[in-house]
Amino acid sequence: MVPVICIDGPSGAGKGTIAKRLAEHLGWHLLDSGALYRVLGHACLLAGIPWDDEPAVTEMATNLDVSFRPGSEGVDVLLAGQDVTRAVRSEEGGHGASAVAVIPDVRAALLERQRQLALAPGLVADGRDMGSVVFVDAPLKIFLSASPEARAQRRYSQLLARGESVSLPRLLEAIKERDARDANRDASPLVAAEDAVTIDSTELSVDAVFNRVLDLVATRGLGTRASG
Ligand code: DC
Repeated sequence: MVPVICIDGPSGAGKGTIAKRLAEHLGWHLLDSGALYRVLGHACLLAGIPWDDEPAVTEMATNLDVSFRPGSEGVDVLLAGQDVTRAVRSEEGGHGASAVAVIPDVRAALLERQRQLALAPGLVADGRDMGSVVFVDAPLKIFLSASPEARAQRRYSQLLARGESVSLPRLLEAIKERDARDANRDASPLVAAEDAVTIDSTELSVDAVFNRVLDLVATRGLGTRASG
């Protein structure tokens, strides 16, 4: 069976950064499952489908022509061959993703698509329900968390660097709202899988988190640490 390492957690905990680095380090594939929900929200927006129109959003999820290619921030996202990376990674893109992700039929429609991405030599999967629903048999599940304040601050710096104008208090409010929606929805709510290892990154640098992850990877016999 192809090994999968799951990295789940709330938005802004650093999952994307760690998952990308780990996939590169191991030479494994990367699944940014949030991008799937983001591109779906974006596709609905383009088609004039409201995010709460469950049958129409589900149909869109079933027929979604999405593909990924390695990019500077993990993966670039293509919708019907068009690069929509920037739009889907915006705050609006995250909002749409969180809205369509509450629909159980949408999650079911995207499940098999995600499982098909578990290809040799291995997959690093980043999301909310990778360990609890999509890859329940994964040999390593990490739940990466951080305080809402730390996550808002990180997201703020990231958006500023990208040239987007944002307000820190508004970001904090949005993060808390998104946390509540992701954690309280009925379908695959954001929870740590029972067998997940939790890492709280509030006080940790990216390197420190990455080293902890590498230790876990080595302990589970999934890879070897690069020297140096
Ligand atoms: O990881 P992200 O910020 O790109 O995710 C955007 C939204 O998509 C998030 O608010 C919840 C949803 N999501 C989900 O429900 N399940 C996943 N596996 C990944 C993301």
